[in-house]
Amino acid sequence: DQSLRALSARHGLYFGTAVDMAALDDANDPQYRQLVQSQFNSVTAENVMKWESLEPTRGNYNWGPADKLIEFAKKNNQKVRGHVLVWQNQLPPWLTEGVNNGTISTTELRELLRKHITTVVKRYKGKIWQWDVVNEAASDPWDNPPTIHLKGFWAQHLGAGYIADAFRWARAADPSALLFYNDYNLEAFGDKGASDKTWYVYKMVKQLRQSGVPIDGLGSQGHLGTQYGNYNVFQVKEALDAFSDLGLATAFTEVDVRSQMTPGVQAGDSNEINPRLQASSDNYSVLLQACLANRHCLSYTVWGFADNHSWVPTWFSNPPEGLATLYDESYQPKRAFYAVKGDLIFS
Ligand code: G3I
Repeated sequence: DQSLRALSARHGLYFGTAVDMAALDDANDPQYRQLVQSQFNSVTAENVMKWESLEPTRGNYNWGPADKLIEFAKKNNQKVRGHVLVWQNQLPPWLTEGVNNGTISTTELRELLRKHITTVVKRYKGKIWQWDVVNEAASDPWDNPPTIHLKGFWAQHLGAGYIADAFRWARAADPSALLFYNDYNLEAFGDKGASDKTWYVYKMVKQLRQSGVPIDGLGSQGHLGTQYGNYNVFQVKEALDAFSDLGLATAFTEVDVRSQMTPGVQAGDSNEINPRLQASSDNYSVLLQACLANRHCLSYTVWGFADNHSWVPTWFSNPPEGLATLYDESYQPKRAFYAVKGDLIFS
C-alpha cells in the first residue's frame, strides 16, 4: 500500500485532509470520497463544526453534517481533528448581532461561549483526537498597528482571558482530547521583535503553559503562497522544535500552497504553470520534512486535496490564485503529491 496514509503510518504520523461535506456526499463526484478514504488517516471538517454551522439559530443545534463526518471517520479508521471551538469568523449572526445591538451582555456572552464549548466537546467526547480550541487570535504584521496583538471579536468583548477560559472549559468537557492553539504564519521565526507573529504566539503559549492552562498542542496552519519568500526546512524545524520544547505537541493543520495566476494564463500553458507547480511542491515538502524531523509533530493535514474543492480560488479572485493542492481539478496527482509521497518513502 503506497497511499499517503499507509506511508505516513510507518512514521507514526497522521496524514489528514479538510473535508467538504457537500463534496463527500455528492453522488456525482465519487472520486472525492474515494480519495478521502484511501489517502488520509485523519480528517478535519472544513466548515461543519464551526459555530454558525452547529447553532444557526439560538438554542437549536444542527449536528447532522458533523455527526456524519465522525461516522465516516470511524468507518474508515481515521482520526478526527475538531475544528473549531473559538474563532472570530463564521459565528452565527444571532450571536454577533445580539452583541452589537446590546441584547447580549458581556456576562451573557462569556456564558454562551462556555456553554458552546461544553456542549460541543461533550457531544463528541472520546471521538475527537485534537481540538482546535482557539483559532487565529493573534494579529498579523500587516494589520494596524503592526505590533502583534490579540485581535477580533472575542478579545474585543471578553479581553485576553477568554483564551485560558476556553482551554479550561474544553479540558473539563473531554479530558482525553488534545487541545490546540491554531494559527497561520507560524512557519518560522522572524526577528523576534514586536511584529514577529511566531515569536508572539510562542511567548503566549509559553505563558499559558506556565500558568497551568491545559494547552497540549500548537497547530501551524501552513497556508503558503509561492509568490512570497519560501522557507527552508531548518527554519521550519526550528520553529516546531521551539514549540515542542515547551512540552507541546505540534501539527501542520491546514497546509496548502497557492499561486498567483496572472490574468490570461491558461491551465495548459506549461511555461507559466510548471514553475508554480514546482514551487508549490517544494513548499509542501519543506513543511512535511520539518514535521518528520520534529519528534512531536503528530499530523500533517492539507486544507483540501484537490483544486476543484479548494477555498483558494473563491477567496483570492483578484488577482486570481489557485493550484494550491496535491491534485488537479480532475483528481490527477500533481508534483506536490509525488513530493510528499517521496518524503514519506525516503525519510
Ligand atoms: O454556507 C453557505 C451556503 O449556504 C451557501 O450556499 C454558500 C454560497 O456562497 O456559502 C456557504 O458558506 C460559505 C462556506 O465557506 C461554506 O462553503 C462561506 O460563504 C465561505 O465564506 C466559507 O469559506 C470558508 C472560510 O474558512 C470562511 O471563514 C472556507 O470554506 C474554509 O476553507 C475556510 O477555512 C479556514 C479555516 O477554518 C481557518 N483557517 C483559515 C482557513 C482558510 O480561510
